[in-house]
Amino acid sequence: MDRMQVKPDDGSLMAQPDRQVVVTGVAGFIGSHLARELLNLGYRVLGIDYLAGHPQVVIERNLAPNKIDKSFTLVRGDLTEVSLIPWFQGVDTIFHLAACPGVRGSWGKDFARYVSSNILATHLLMDAAIRSGVRRVVVSSSSSIYGGASCGPVTETNLPAPLSPYGVTKLAAEQLALAHARRAGSQMTVVALRYFTVYGPRQREDMLISRLITSALTKKPITILGDGRQRRDFTFVEDAVRANLMAMHADVEAEVINIGTGVTTPVLEVAEIVGDIAGMAVPLKFGQRQAGDVRDTHADVSLARAKIGYLPTVDLRSGLKVQFEWARANKLADRPT
Ligand SMILES: NC(=O)c1ccc[n+]([C@@H]2O[C@H](COP(=O)([O-])OP(=O)(O)OC[C@H]3O[C@@H](n4cnc5c(N)ncnc54)[C@H](O)[C@@H]3O)[C@@H](O)[C@H]2O)c1
Repeated sequence: MDRMQVKPDDGSLMAQPDRQVVVTGVAGFIGSHLARELLNLGYRVLGIDYLAGHPQVVIERNLAPNKIDKSFTLVRGDLTEVSLIPWFQGVDTIFHLAACPGVRGSWGKDFARYVSSNILATHLLMDAAIRSGVRRVVVSSSSSIYGGASCGPVTETNLPAPLSPYGVTKLAAEQLALAHARRAGSQMTVVALRYFTVYGPRQREDMLISRLITSALTKKPITILGDGRQRRDFTFVEDAVRANLMAMHADVEAEVINIGTGVTTPVLEVAEIVGDIAGMAVPLKFGQRQAGDVRDTHADVSLARAKIGYLPTVDLRSGLKVQFEWARANKLADRPT
């Protein structure tokens, strides 16, 4: 086993070398970072992914830091097709990140994929987790379940009102997970983390910040969908990963928790900061606001602080610098898409 990296000031992040955990969606953006951090802490990580969510070159790049670790095992399979119970034996915690992400693709006939990967997969996973005696499942939910945040930060008690089919599937998935946890006789506990726009190295290429950085590196204009005044609460991936680790041992039974920063920034300002970092203004064009895009997102993170001890640690400019340098070093802009 690799040497453990123990973070001494935070009890919830102490290394647990005997624990076997599962990360679904391990070939994805957030899942690959979470798996790496769990391995650093001395966990044995079983990663499950159907390896179809990204182009092959991206999958390989995302898996590379974990595949080199002998405590990492990769299972290639669709969660709706694989027999999960054998893989869940002796597992303490499942981090369920696998999903079909993205708002725009969820309209039209592709919705079937969203239903399968987001709803059906979650149902089958939860059922197998209960039958296998898994103690905790940490589920990745989304700010998209709220709709917009025109009246200030949203708390977990706000009425969900998703504006996209994607948001509807994420709401169904988190509520399914909670229903399984509340099932009579269930010993399993669930924390559903509602992430607010996560960014950082390996961010999905369809996401705004990736596209802004690619535009700055290639000098090719990016089309902003809408007037650019829409605001987002941007969460650095390290903070999202820490939230997962904190949710692992928090004293809760069935809970949804916002994971954001509490700071909301207009898209035009993000473009300006990326331009500052790049040393040249990002060339912008403007297009129609798309169906399902919410106007603003803004998280109230008080419950996250109270329930799992989460506080965001990375401000937007610092996080953008890290993602920019990573993209430049990885010559992302040179890669044919
Ligand atoms: N990135 C964000 O800003 C953000 C915001 C809110 C919520 N989320 C949620 O966080 C999670 C991770 O997001 P991400 O940005 O890392 O996405 P991602 O697309 O990079 O990763 C998702 C992974 O899940 C895998 N997958 C999808 N369906 C599967 C299935 N049926 N069986 C097995 N594997 C499957 C894909 O191959 C992919 O590798 C998702 O649940 C997403 O809805 C992300």
